[in-house]
Amino acid sequence: MNKSPRECLSLNMSKSKFTVTAALPYANGPLHLGHVAGVYLPADIFVRFLRMNDHDVAFICGSDEHGAAITLRAKKEGTTPKEIVDKYDAIIGKAFKDFEISFDIYHRTSAEIHHKTSQDFFLKLYEKGKFTEEVSEQYFDEEYQQFLADRYIVGECPKCQNPGAYGDQCEKCGTDLSPTELVNPTSTLSGKTPILKTTSHWYLPMGRHEEWLRDWIKEGTLDGVKQHEPKAWRNQVIGQCMSWIDGGLHSRAMTRDLDWGVKVPLPNAEGKVLYVWLDAPIGYISATKQWALDNQKNWEDYWTGDRKLIHFIGKDNIVFHAVIFPILLKDHGDLILPDNVPASEFLNLEGDKLSTSRNWAVWLHEYLQSYPDKADELKYVLTSIAPETKDSEFTWKEYQTRINSELADILGNFVNRALVLTQKYYGGLVPDMGKMTVEDQSVLNEMAAIPQRISKLIYAYKFREAQAEAMNLARLGNKYLADQEPWKVVKTDPERVKTIMHIALQITANLSIVLQPFLPETARKLSNFLNVHTADWNDAGRPDIVQAGTQTREPSILFPKIEDDIVTAEVEKLKSTVMTETTTTPQKEEVSFDDFSKMDIRLGTILEAEKVEKADKLLKLLVDTGLDKRTIVSGIAAHYAPEDVIGKTVSVLLNLAPRKIRGIESQGMILMAEDAEGNLSFMVPEKGFNAGGGIC
Ligand code: 2FM
Ligand code: ZN
Repeated sequence: MNKSPRECLSLNMSKSKFTVTAALPYANGPLHLGHVAGVYLPADIFVRFLRMNDHDVAFICGSDEHGAAITLRAKKEGTTPKEIVDKYDAIIGKAFKDFEISFDIYHRTSAEIHHKTSQDFFLKLYEKGKFTEEVSEQYFDEEYQQFLADRYIVGECPKCQNPGAYGDQCEKCGTDLSPTELVNPTSTLSGKTPILKTTSHWYLPMGRHEEWLRDWIKEGTLDGVKQHEPKAWRNQVIGQCMSWIDGGLHSRAMTRDLDWGVKVPLPNAEGKVLYVWLDAPIGYISATKQWALDNQKNWEDYWTGDRKLIHFIGKDNIVFHAVIFPILLKDHGDLILPDNVPASEFLNLEGDKLSTSRNWAVWLHEYLQSYPDKADELKYVLTSIAPETKDSEFTWKEYQTRINSELADILGNFVNRALVLTQKYYGGLVPDMGKMTVEDQSVLNEMAAIPQRISKLIYAYKFREAQAEAMNLARLGNKYLADQEPWKVVKTDPERVKTIMHIALQITANLSIVLQPFLPETARKLSNFLNVHTADWNDAGRPDIVQAGTQTREPSILFPKIEDDIVTAEVEKLKSTVMTETTTTPQKEEVSFDDFSKMDIRLGTILEAEKVEKADKLLKLLVDTGLDKRTIVSGIAAHYAPEDVIGKTVSVLLNLAPRKIRGIESQGMILMAEDAEGNLSFMVPEKGFNAGGGIC
């Protein structure tokens, strides 16, 4: 295809070089739609667009495999951190591939090259005197013989009194915390109150950096030299950074007492690893190194010079990418700082917060299993509702509406009409362009203006609006056909219809270009229908992309309608798999088999039951144990009426030392099961055993 001598549309970006990163997901669970809508999809749209504009770009991502997120998950699943990261790295990597997120590399922070890169980075800063070594008292779990940083410790948030705040952050009010700020701290390992113990760590004295950070974030200058355009940064990013800096930057420990992570490369650092938020962003560099090695490139080209470094992240990662990592990069001295940090807000789901722990989520890999041919549909919906500047919400109903009344009724309908009529009138051959009317010229003018509007929006990180502009081209085509009515005109003026159809096919060809960043699979289909293949953004807007005489193909339906039963089933699935939030009770202290066998647990039958006066929760029971008939006081009154339990076979701990409860001597304990919502159930044998049986 001949390139027109039109100017590059890149608006001050002509042939810029980009290194684009997308937040490394923790390999401790699968990806949900919030991750996709907030980070990976916008990053992918941006990169696809840059490539079409012939920018030199590297698109970097990988699994974040260190930190408490991983080790605690391993503990929860009763396995090793290595098994956890291998499992989720594979699930996440496959989901990205199936969803066609077009990373140049999807790497892992467990790779040797990453450990070496992080250690070299740390050593460079250490040797330049950028860290301070500080001795302090930190919480320590005596039972597990482990210091408790970050998510290893929970307690009450001093700001909002949330009882489940973590040692690094309160997820309820968003405050950054250190473990010693927590009220009533508890170890998440043993569930016990930790002691304070002395340890030493290397800290990043962030207070030293407040001044230049202010200029860099607010003015976009570093040492008086313009680095980036702060107006191009999202307000929430600047706001969060400035509120952090204005609150005073404190020294932050860059090492941890743990055995899972990148080892601190110093002789006196046995049992210490790098803080995960030090090693994770360095993961962008190590991934670039690996990619460069694999592709005979020079990694430094991607981290130095006049290259734009862009970090796509979620809002919970802002300070790490826009304050801490820039400090580290500046201290390092040889590498570029980010040009922009387009951070998204959060995506909610069906009226509630997305939550991994509650399983209130639509998981990307599950969606792709259920709907392997509907990746573009999901991309379209997620970009339409992307939480770019404020939180937004995904509902299955909106998913259906956007697909049916936008993708199917506007885009699908237009493309189908254009191609089916071409088959019908011309056996699929693109007809000649005849004499143009004013309406024709006006449609072509409108078509020519759209790519530039999309460009401007994409360079401004406004992907929602950019996609809407691309859809406006389909709207334009639909309206053009509806106004020109070729199916009527063909009866009276078949020559005129050739021009109408020629223009409709040029619009379709333009769609095959402008949709590429957003809906790559759909764009490929359009290219195949038309036998036109261009991935050059500079071709977009042209009225001569598809040549007269080109043989086009019979189209297939682009977007089958989503029926109501899909919506109902998906909402039902969410509701039936959601879990009530519980604080996982850590495993209790180990007991020997001898200890266990001291417990005399037998089956008993409840003979009598009555409420204990002035005690809402208690029932006084007379239980036939097969050995004797004895009184047991049980805290089940909120769950069972006395008359409901008479005659029930229950499990009883017989040899529990007798206790007086409300003046009644209780001679044992009824064993109950409790679910996540606090409902109680008797632990009964599945077969109808009688009282007196034992538990073995
Ligand atoms: O929040 C997260 O999921 C982190 N794993 C993001 C890390 S981004 C980068 F620093 F690696
Ligand atoms: Zn709080």
